[in-house]
Amino acid sequence: MNAELMTVAYIGATILFILSLGGLSNPETSRRGNLFGIIGMSIAVIATLMGPRITGVSSFASILIAMTVGGSVGIFAAIRVKMTQMPELVALMHSLVGLAACLVGFANFIDPSSHFTGSEKTIHEIEIYVGILIGAITFSGSLVAFGKLSGKIGGQPLLLPARHLLNLGLLVTVIIAGRSFLDAGSIEQGLVPLYLMTVIALLFGIHMVIAIGGADMPVVVSMLNSYSGWAASATGFMLSNDLLIVVGALVGSSGAILSYIMCRAMNRHFFAVIAGGFGTGGGKAPAAGGDAAPQGEVQPINAADTAELLRNAESVIIVPGYGMAVAQAQHTVCEITKILREKGINVRFGIHPVAGRMPGHMNVLLAEARVPYDIVLEMDELNQDFPKTDVTMVIGANDIVNPAAQDNPNSPIAGMPVLEVWKAKTSIVMKRSMASGYAGVDNPLFYKENNRMLFGDAKKMLDEVLISLAK
Ligand code: TAP
Repeated sequence: MNAELMTVAYIGATILFILSLGGLSNPETSRRGNLFGIIGMSIAVIATLMGPRITGVSSFASILIAMTVGGSVGIFAAIRVKMTQMPELVALMHSLVGLAACLVGFANFIDPSSHFTGSEKTIHEIEIYVGILIGAITFSGSLVAFGKLSGKIGGQPLLLPARHLLNLGLLVTVIIAGRSFLDAGSIEQGLVPLYLMTVIALLFGIHMVIAIGGADMPVVVSMLNSYSGWAASATGFMLSNDLLIVVGALVGSSGAILSYIMCRAMNRHFFAVIAGGFGTGGGKAPAAGGDAAPQGEVQPINAADTAELLRNAESVIIVPGYGMAVAQAQHTVCEITKILREKGINVRFGIHPVAGRMPGHMNVLLAEARVPYDIVLEMDELNQDFPKTDVTMVIGANDIVNPAAQDNPNSPIAGMPVLEVWKAKTSIVMKRSMASGYAGVDNPLFYKENNRMLFGDAKKMLDEVLISLAK
């Protein structure tokens, strides 16, 4: 394939990627969006393999071997991973993009066939330096995010003393090392500041993510998504590959927009999240039973009474959370919804932007169970409807329905917009125990007079509710 044809293929792939992003922004068009992405990526890979830069059978064969090994690992991981582990897998994938950017950067720098001179050489070296910098931050930051999301590292932020000063010191060192990298007279000389910067960037990535509290992890996930895009874009500059530059920029900017949306959903300032220490709110999670523990009595309910309440309601709002994903209860939820709607009851779903463990987590599960899209509403679309609602059924959700976010300024989740389920006539919370959610905060909702607790695994309890409803 000649260079012109390859450019045409790249432009086609770029258009498909843009259409893919557009499609993924809506559940109804997301399948099409995915398909566009797959076709775009296939065109991109084939055009690159057939392009003028892959010369000789040996380089073609080595790429194919690498693709087969990488692809097999990817398929194996994707098949094995549970839906609830998806954010961890995504964090790991981001770390690989960062690692790739670092390796390409080093390979580019020590490439003996490199023919850049004068200002071209300087620009190429800046690309390498910045590429490795972003790549190393993405790599180590994503690994820590993986550790936090999988529970291998504690959710509490680790705050070093004078951390902002420390970060500033690291930044200044990176700039000075960059200067000496550009001034280096040989590859050996240049490698010294390059190694130094890489180590600093790796430490910075760890420090940045480890300082972010558990409650702010959604922002970190999307932020690292954005970084991985910029790392890919930097790799594109190093390899003079226009498609990689454009695709990286698409991922980088969409990740940045998503981070902004996440911050807005949690009432956080983006820069404050990055600066770390958030997710603690400066306060402490009140210990159960302590002075700050919510007051009131917990009122349990059984499945039959839950079914009775639902049957007698005119309007019901279902709020799913992480526990529904763990229990894989979405199909039973859909069955219950069908029965209630057949009885003429107005059933709707309230989705919090950070419900579950990844953006769109609940939407994906409900779509999989074939819950009609038009009754699945965003928090802002139905928060004002709770006072007019008879029953709200909270399925395995906790932080996203915690009134402490509004009432307790010292709460770690203070200021985070929440679904005001307690404003309905009756709220029913379905979970296994009184344990806290992801943010580790007590939930006063459980003690409210109009709240009932349906204790047990969400799938098991909903199955019982379904049987009672069908009677
Ligand atoms: P959480 O606050 O984590 O609460 C989930 C609840 O589900 C838990 O309290 C747990 O209580 C219950 N549960 C677990 N397994 C269950 C099962 N099998 N059956 C019934 N209940 C079960 O979830 P949420 O309300 O969806 O809020 C999401 C949280 O995750 C937020 O703090 C958010 O910031 C954070 N987060 C979100 C994301 C994204 S992007 N969405 C990413 C990372 C973190 P029991 O143990 O008592 O059953």
